[in-house]
Amino acid sequence: MLQRQIATTGCRVSAFGLGTVKFGRNSDLKYPNSFALPDNRTIANLLAIARDHGVNLLDTAPSYGSSEERLGALLNSQRHHWVISTKVGETWSEKGSQFDFTGSAVEASITASLKRLATDYLDIVLVHSDGSDEKIINELDTLATLEKLKSKGIIRCFGISTKTITGGMLAIERCDLAMVAYNLTQQSEKPVLDYAVELNKGIFIKKALDSGNKPRHLDSKVWLQDALQFVLNHPAVTSVIMGTINPQHLKENLETINQIQQGKLLA
Ligand SMILES: NC(=O)c1ccc[n+]([C@@H]2O[C@H](COP(=O)([O-])OP(=O)(O)OC[C@H]3O[C@@H](n4cnc5c(N)ncnc54)[C@H](OP(=O)(O)O)[C@@H]3O)[C@@H](O)[C@H]2O)c1
Repeated sequence: MLQRQIATTGCRVSAFGLGTVKFGRNSDLKYPNSFALPDNRTIANLLAIARDHGVNLLDTAPSYGSSEERLGALLNSQRHHWVISTKVGETWSEKGSQFDFTGSAVEASITASLKRLATDYLDIVLVHSDGSDEKIINELDTLATLEKLKSKGIIRCFGISTKTITGGMLAIERCDLAMVAYNLTQQSEKPVLDYAVELNKGIFIKKALDSGNKPRHLDSKVWLQDALQFVLNHPAVTSVIMGTINPQHLKENLETINQIQQGKLLA
């Protein structure tokens, strides 16, 4: 699988990143179907399939329940193979989400993530925005704190998972990358992708499959190919972060991406 560098950071990631919300949390989510958390063997198998297909990128967050902790236990001896992307700003419990984007909360969150992930550095840290993108960027010390941690070598790159176009544009100016929602039914944030090309910054795509909401009339294979081809067609896209706990789905997703990259599917 092809890899691309995030901006000028030296951090190279595969075109597919494995999203891991479903590794650690199964309530208070917007997926169409309920599910049981996968056991350790299933997660280890998913990681092995991804790795065998050339994937080196994992996306997690403190708000994804036990995801970070489970990855920390399983990655162990393979830490250096993986580029780990985690987040700051949001925590979650059965009572719901809580947000704190202050510099002190960012530092405490990163210390806790390092411990849960059993590592001494984080490759990528994204601000897990609650939608107040502009306030986080313009009024708080969130990004200054991440910049400081980057200069100390504790994190290698940082960005924001944004929810607004203005926020996405500012994130492109101020950070190494932005994570944006972009798919066949949600394209309002395309200006952020265009701007990332102009400024040579990274873009991670979330919700490429619209969180699994397949239109009823579409065949699964056609839906998957169309969705991935659409997303990967934009030159800004560094990686598409897709979540699955189904090994068959993971293989289909990876094989489809490989076929697109090899030009085997018609545009
Ligand atoms: N930063 C943020 O604010 C934010 C927000 C949302 C997501 N994310 C990140 O982005 C990742 C992806 O987002 P997402 O999970 O919302 O959206 P997504 O990747 O568009 O959709 C994931 C859903 O699609 C299903 N799926 C995956 N491959 C499939 C296939 N080949 N055929 C049929 N169904 C398939 C999965 O179910 P199965 O498990 O059954 O395959 C899962 O429920 C997350 O895991 C997370 O890491 C970040």
